Amino acid sequence: MKTVSPRVKLKDYLAENLPNLDRGLLPSRAKLLGGIAVLRLRPELEAHRFRIGELTRRFYKVKAVYLIRGVEGVERRPVLELLSGERAGEIVHREYGCAFKLDPEELMFCLGNSFERLRLAALVGDGEVVVDMFAGVGQFTIPMAVLANPRKIFSIEINPKAYRYLLENVKLNGVEDRVQPILGDCREIASEKLKGVADRVVMGYFWGTMKALPAALKALKPEGGIIHFHELARRGGEEELVEEVMEKVEELGYSARLLGWRKVKSYSRTRNHVVADILAAKRKA
Ligand SMILES: C[S@@+](CC[C@H](N)C(=O)[O-])C[C@H]1O[C@@H](n2cnc3c(N)ncnc32)[C@H](O)[C@@H]1O
Repeated sequence: MKTVSPRVKLKDYLAENLPNLDRGLLPSRAKLLGGIAVLRLRPELEAHRFRIGELTRRFYKVKAVYLIRGVEGVERRPVLELLSGERAGEIVHREYGCAFKLDPEELMFCLGNSFERLRLAALVGDGEVVVDMFAGVGQFTIPMAVLANPRKIFSIEINPKAYRYLLENVKLNGVEDRVQPILGDCREIASEKLKGVADRVVMGYFWGTMKALPAALKALKPEGGIIHFHELARRGGEEELVEEVMEKVEELGYSARLLGWRKVKSYSRTRNHVVADILAAKRKA
């Protein structure tokens, strides 16, 4: 076993220790989350995954290395296989001075959204009321509450497991005074209990964000507000998707002004994760 120099990359380290494998197939990096590493592997490396996991654990000096095979269900449960080390249990991931506790075998935490979390927090104005419709464990809520100065964030989550961590993370970050977690379906809660309260609505979800758009619009204050609409777009089809969302907003009886859109990350070979910031207000009858 070769020793690791701090300048060596994971791919180089794996290639040195596994000289029989095609270097081009080896992963360049793993995602590091609260003391564990999460790897994606090309299918050709399936038979070598445990050895790669073991080497990755040594390389990063982490407690455990997992292989991610995908995410499933409405609740976005990660499908992980432990390759090396001990089961992680609960971890605390830290980012921009915020702490996020979660069980990575049960719940998603996407490192690729890291800049978007910071960008969003920087947009929140003093005294704003925000509705976070797909709150998860507080991925967007916590940075907005910690780094900005909102009056209130209503954070809605349907999965009781994620909701439990959302509650914990609110306490862990000392933002109980400004965050109100709510367990339930955001499509009902935003359009009924939170009707007309929000300056800003965050829709951090894929595969069906559109279905929750009518509820997001209803949650906006009568004078209007901003919606951050997340979805997956076909590569090259990002503007088309944004156009479609704008048309839908208009169709629902609201004026829509596009403040901007950005690619958050590449999601797969064919799709990008996109967010559109839309200023919307109910049209007068
Ligand atoms: C993938 S996570 C994203 C968390 C965070 N918004 C982000 O973008 O990093 C999506 C979350 O939305 C929750 N969810 C899905 N449908 C929902 C609904 N109808 N109402 C409230 N939460 C929902 C899931 O349980 C999951 O925790």
